[in-house]
Amino acid sequence: MKALLESLQPGQKDWDLAQAIDPARLPAHIAIIMDGNGRWAGRRRLPRVAGHKAGIGPVRSTVETCARLGVKVLTLYAFSIENWKRPRHEVETLWRLLRFYLKQELPDLKKNDIPLQAIGRLEALPPQVRRELESVIDATSNNRGLLVNLAINYSGRAEIVDALNSILEMARLDGSIGSLKLDEDTLSTALYTASCPDPDLLIRTSGEMRISNFLLWQIAYSELYVTETLWPDFTRTDLLQALVEYQKRDRRYGGLSAAPVSGAVKDGDETLIEALRSS
Ligand code: IPE
Ligand code: IPE
Ligand code: MG
Repeated sequence: MKALLESLQPGQKDWDLAQAIDPARLPAHIAIIMDGNGRWAGRRRLPRVAGHKAGIGPVRSTVETCARLGVKVLTLYAFSIENWKRPRHEVETLWRLLRFYLKQELPDLKKNDIPLQAIGRLEALPPQVRRELESVIDATSNNRGLLVNLAINYSGRAEIVDALNSILEMARLDGSIGSLKLDEDTLSTALYTASCPDPDLLIRTSGEMRISNFLLWQIAYSELYVTETLWPDFTRTDLLQALVEYQKRDRRYGGLSAAPVSGAVKDGDETLIEALRSS
């Protein structure tokens, strides 16, 4: 947070928003469904792929802002398993853009101490994309700053199926399959995101009110924030607005609010409890 404030001047755009954010209550993990590239291009009478190209800038600025804020993990949904249904030309352009992004970003990832990881069925990526991705993951693996997780060829259901299959395989190998019993921890630690906390905040751009097979297990208690902004237009201002809104939420996890509503009957109000009992 300090780094973000130091990068801004009083009176400058985003200064007030940044001041409104409580550094002690930042989300540890932000996940983003980066949606709306095609519509952004369509509104400008450009081909869909122009929207994907324009989506690279916001990835850069979002990574930079999250690093300056001191967020621990940023997970970006870049390509779903279902996205293979799109025309071949669009899918190939997405791979080309991913390779361009990796090449362009490597020096900054190193400079800013950012480790890059990827989640998804990476074995099914085009071989060259996979090689380049793995080389950036390797080159940044000793970095200790903001963890950037790219969800590529990812789907939440596939992740759960893969986790279950890996548990079964292990149990078959160590002979424990007959007595195998699952619990939430066993499954959580077999997911691609095993080493990450669950997302505190899930942002979706472009106004769609759906999850589209993203982090199905992990978002059980994430706060959802949907903005009409299309991904290529997503700026630092949008991210800070999402954080301000996030900090207004009352995260109860099925329990009760830490700050009771003013004027509400206090717990242990014996007269009222007695009246209810006898009515
Ligand atoms: C998100 O933008 C990027 C990917 C899914 C790869 P879209 O391409 O889905 O854009 P819209 O939703 O069609 O506008
Ligand atoms: C979700 O967006 C996937 C990514 C952002 C990578 P989609 O555009 O694929 O989702 P739907 O089809 O609108 O649900
Ligand atoms: Mg879309």
